[in-house]
Amino acid sequence: MPSPEIFKFASADEISTALDHFIAQASHDAIARSGRFTVTLSGGSLPKVLAAKLKSNTTVEWSKWHVFFADERCVPHDHDDSNYLLAKQQLLDSVPIPANQVHPINPALVNDRHAAAKDYVQQLKSVFGEELPSFDVNLLGIGPDGHCCSLFPGHPLLDVKDTWVASLDDSPKPPPSRITLTYPVINNADTNVFVVTGEGKADVFHQIIDLKEPLPSGRVQAKRRLIWFVDNGAAGKLKASTLK
Ligand code: 6PG
Repeated sequence: MPSPEIFKFASADEISTALDHFIAQASHDAIARSGRFTVTLSGGSLPKVLAAKLKSNTTVEWSKWHVFFADERCVPHDHDDSNYLLAKQQLLDSVPIPANQVHPINPALVNDRHAAAKDYVQQLKSVFGEELPSFDVNLLGIGPDGHCCSLFPGHPLLDVKDTWVASLDDSPKPPPSRITLTYPVINNADTNVFVVTGEGKADVFHQIIDLKEPLPSGRVQAKRRLIWFVDNGAAGKLKASTLK
């Protein structure tokens, strides 16, 4: 398992620049290797920080991208809580990724979370076949409680091993009904990238990195690289020796 690599920046704006370079390179490398770039997006603050610079990057071969969602809320695509809507507004509307290579939750199934999760497995199979999906990059955020995707502390979904996509109707972060990738898929990625900004994340980041508390985000692994892009606020309580 790769050791976590932590990159600290003065501001969210600097993270946007670093992410632009990192994702452009990851996309270039993946396309050279396999002819495509497979990536997942999360909700929350991530899409804005990601898109700030990347959306104007003309070196990226957007036509080779396949975009999935690490987790999604069971709401229509035009709902304010939709991670798809957020990603669309921040990034997808500005870049030429073919529509059939963007994979949102099936809008016809948002009132049946089990069916929506099953359908999302089929969407994964349409790109990855029957093999366990291995994303080039998952882009993840963390909550102040240490959750990532919709995997919350103490929740039974943390132990799911027999499905690629699970659903819940008791998310402590609203809205309650969601679908989420499970650890078997998340941890089978080539690279997992966490993007963490603001003082509100300083305690949890210290708990995960310095104290190695087994919070959901701390259980994320990767085949090759496990990367944290953090700003000074989020890294405010990190032990000085950790960054050496
Ligand atoms: C969601 C997200 C979730 C998010 C974290 C961090 O749909 O709720 O995917 O896992 O990434 O809660 O959110 P913030 O960046 O807004 O703190």
